[in-house]
Amino acid sequence: MLAELACFEQKCHATFPLTEAIYNCTHCGGLLEVRFTEARIDQELLGKLWRERRTSNRMLDQSGVWRYRELLPFDGFEQRAVSLREGNTPLLDAPRAAEYGGLDRLTFKHQGYNPTGSFKDNGMTCGVTQALRLGRKRVACVSTGNTSASMAAYASAAGLDPIVFIPRGNISYGKLAQALEYGARTLQIDANFDQILALVRVLAERAGIYLLNSINPFRIEGQKTIIFEMLDQRDWNPPDWIVLPGGNLGNTSAFGKALRELLQFGFIHKMPRLAVIQAEGAAPFYEFMQTRGEFRSVREPRTLATAIRIGDPVSWPKALYELTESNGVVEKVSEQEIADAKAIIGRCGIGCEPASAATLAGMRKLTHSSVIRRDADVVAVLTGNVLKDPDYIYQYHTGQLKDPEGRLIEPRFGNQPVVVPNDPDAISKLL
Ligand code: F0G
Repeated sequence: MLAELACFEQKCHATFPLTEAIYNCTHCGGLLEVRFTEARIDQELLGKLWRERRTSNRMLDQSGVWRYRELLPFDGFEQRAVSLREGNTPLLDAPRAAEYGGLDRLTFKHQGYNPTGSFKDNGMTCGVTQALRLGRKRVACVSTGNTSASMAAYASAAGLDPIVFIPRGNISYGKLAQALEYGARTLQIDANFDQILALVRVLAERAGIYLLNSINPFRIEGQKTIIFEMLDQRDWNPPDWIVLPGGNLGNTSAFGKALRELLQFGFIHKMPRLAVIQAEGAAPFYEFMQTRGEFRSVREPRTLATAIRIGDPVSWPKALYELTESNGVVEKVSEQEIADAKAIIGRCGIGCEPASAATLAGMRKLTHSSVIRRDADVVAVLTGNVLKDPDYIYQYHTGQLKDPEGRLIEPRFGNQPVVVPNDPDAISKLL
């Protein structure tokens, strides 16, 4: 659909063409969002078309992002999209996790099934396609790991030059390994995510590099399709709650925007409530929502869920808006709660990375405090694959995992490997 870039600040009415490579409003510095300038949608026809495309062999139809191209701002350029067949992630029932979370039933939308193992692929296919549209050769991001893995893959697939900035020592090896394997120039800096983002913004401007952090509104557009696909899979029947982890709050912004658009165009008739879960040591949005005073960043964010180790989330104004629109809530969870919830998700045969498990830990708290009812219809979004952070898993199950303060995390659902002699009798006895 035809669209423009618009300043997200209510008081500023600035708009810009989609082909302007900017990340903030040049008038007031506010965040930018894509806004459609036409509304010619036949919801019934489109719903049918999207369903039919699932049986097509065309690249654009096979992508769980580009299948919904009518609600993406590429106006024909999608024909040159860079796709690794992202999206198409399953809805999985998880009775054991439901019981642990205090719910009658629970469904996970598992974004870890994406080509690089996280939800970032939904956004990155759009971000990198926009880089091509703008004729950029180099793309960059700062990342707690998943964005860099995803950007490296999509940029290399597109023949672009990916440059990745990461906080040294604070991303999991699985993610670092992906960035290296996919051919990104990988720069490790002794600073945290928030400090590096400020640095990279200056560098990108100076060197004409296209920035692909979630401040980039085209990434947010791609991430909207997580919600489009989820509701398509549910025959446009909205759940009561959608639960997700919050770091830089790009995904919260994307989910809220997707829901507003689906409501506007008549695909759904009820707005699900968003529940955003943060780790206790990196919970500036949680603290802000308690008081609604001034937004205060956390200078030294700390959590073993390194994906969400962010103290100064750039998209908080959008997240605030989307939570207000959806009557949403924010909760925070401890390191022990994340670790235990993660092991439970593992025992469902599903598995996920630590940040994703914050969802189940948060739901457990929200059902205990009766914010979420036991019989509510809940979809939780698992954002990353179980293999993203194997060190964490091994340490948890063997009782060696320590929180950022150096305290041991109790392996309440631990599963120790056992050393046995090469002897069938001895092993039989053990079994
Ligand atoms: N879950 C995972 C697995 C993530 O990698 C991230 C963010 C989030 C949740 C939080 O999402 O930032 O949209 O609120 N990872 C980013 C990165 C920051 O660099 O990979 P958010």
